[in-house]
Amino acid sequence: MIPARLLPLCAEAAATVDPAAEVDTLVPTNNAAHGDYQWNFAFRLAKARKENPRALAERLVGSFAGKPGIAAASVAGPGFINLKLDDAWLAASLREQVAEAACGVPQSGEGRTLILDFSSPNVAKRMHVGHMRSTHIGHVVGNLHRAAGWTVIGDNHIGDWGTPFGKLIVAWDEWRDEAAYAADPVGELERLYVKFGDATNLKENPGLDPAAVATLNDRSREETAKLQRGDARNRALWEDFRAKSLQEYEAVYRRVGVQFDVVLGESAYGPMTDEVVRGLREAGLVEASEGAMIIRLGNQVSVVQKKDGAATYTATDLACVKYRVERWNPAKMVYVTDIRQAQHFANFFAIAGKWGYTAELVHLGFGMLKLPEGAMSTRKGNVIRLVDLLDEAVARARAVVDEKSAIFPDEERAAIAEAVGVGAVRYQDLVQAPGTDITFDWARMLAMDGNSAPYLLYTRARATSVKRKAAEAGVPSPDLANLRFDHPLERELALTLLRFPEAVEAALRTAAPNLAADATYRLCEAFNRFYFELRVLEGGDARDSRLALVEATDRVLCFALRLLGLRVLERL
Ligand code: ARG
Repeated sequence: MIPARLLPLCAEAAATVDPAAEVDTLVPTNNAAHGDYQWNFAFRLAKARKENPRALAERLVGSFAGKPGIAAASVAGPGFINLKLDDAWLAASLREQVAEAACGVPQSGEGRTLILDFSSPNVAKRMHVGHMRSTHIGHVVGNLHRAAGWTVIGDNHIGDWGTPFGKLIVAWDEWRDEAAYAADPVGELERLYVKFGDATNLKENPGLDPAAVATLNDRSREETAKLQRGDARNRALWEDFRAKSLQEYEAVYRRVGVQFDVVLGESAYGPMTDEVVRGLREAGLVEASEGAMIIRLGNQVSVVQKKDGAATYTATDLACVKYRVERWNPAKMVYVTDIRQAQHFANFFAIAGKWGYTAELVHLGFGMLKLPEGAMSTRKGNVIRLVDLLDEAVARARAVVDEKSAIFPDEERAAIAEAVGVGAVRYQDLVQAPGTDITFDWARMLAMDGNSAPYLLYTRARATSVKRKAAEAGVPSPDLANLRFDHPLERELALTLLRFPEAVEAALRTAAPNLAADATYRLCEAFNRFYFELRVLEGGDARDSRLALVEATDRVLCFALRLLGLRVLERL
């Protein structure tokens, strides 16, 4: 990847040795003494042409001479080129970048639609920490795409159909506690579901009467079939279970600031799956096997219709792809779920491809979030309600705010604690590569230093406070045209700001929100080094330039924090 602003410079130089060559990757150097970026173009081209890479690199370096933008180009090692950006060009580029609404992020998504399938809990059950991860990670994936000009349709693909409802209806008829349902509907539904499981689990409860178990199972199948045929009573029960569940989820979504464009769960596709199976059969993709309909993919077998005629998760997802393509014609769909569903997605993507769907299909699988033993409230048994988790984070943040910022009015302290607590839980879901398992760690999440939400929010508040103090002292607001780099930390900060859009692009391309989180952290570190080493307001004739850098930081940092879904605070 070539940073967008450098592309024209490099393309021009590349054209002097080969007008047809594709300009490829530039990587930031680790050591500022070697320049700002390393370019492997000459090395790659020479290898392809069987030429001497060093000689080609030398010719290429010569073509940069006298060009604006590059202050120095030199050959390193066997034929790599080190580039050092020109200070005036760096300042002008930064000025342009912060003036743009997209903060320098290339608008590669213009005219393209992304369907973002995220959160997607199974109704009548508590949304668990896995769904919270999906919610946070998915939200940021959406923000990244929007920043690059994509049209994003956020779809909460809830699990609201199929056999669990037959079981629930039977359990409801047998064991319901209406008072409990009124007080905590999802809790009661979950209890009923577990109860049905226990009452039919012969393996674990050998004392059960096999005939009674068989009856329960038959009844449950019957109730599922009735629901799917549109039976009025079952339909009403299903609607109520679903609505009550969504109400509880909504409270979490409101709290974490997430919205969906559509909530089209599995039930929306129930009526379409027969047609899908027919279509797959006509396309010669499925075969009958012991009464079921299956698709063979190498050594994998995907069942699309079970023996009893019921559609599977795969069939539902295929119906859903068809529906989305017809309605939105998306260029891409991203599914954010637990990584343990990777095989399901690999199989169903392969089937969709064979069936003729060309949209890019991406499964973003995330690892487990492990909760610290005993640290969480046990009053709800072994299930943790997400609202309780958020409440706990906010309470912990509140204790810190009360201690450190006792002079702030009560209402402001409450708002800060809410933003910090909810932000800390969110950030922990984002900061590591999605595929890795993470362990919930209150101390690290809420630390004021290190790669945490409070640190990022605090750094931005610091930038704002410098601006505020400057305004109070009557210093005119800075012009980025006056940017100059007298000190390496000033230049380092400017370069880090300029690189932020590169991280957004990389995060988007690889569906890795952690790359955007890392870049935000690096930005905060560069700003804090600059802030602690150099006096901004007492900077003498460097003051205006430094203030301009603070202004640019504030702008890019606010953009970054919003991208990550953190609530920007004026002070904390
Ligand atoms: N409801 C599923 C779960 O809780 C996730 C659904 C993901 N989306 C999809 N189109 N399959 O694991």
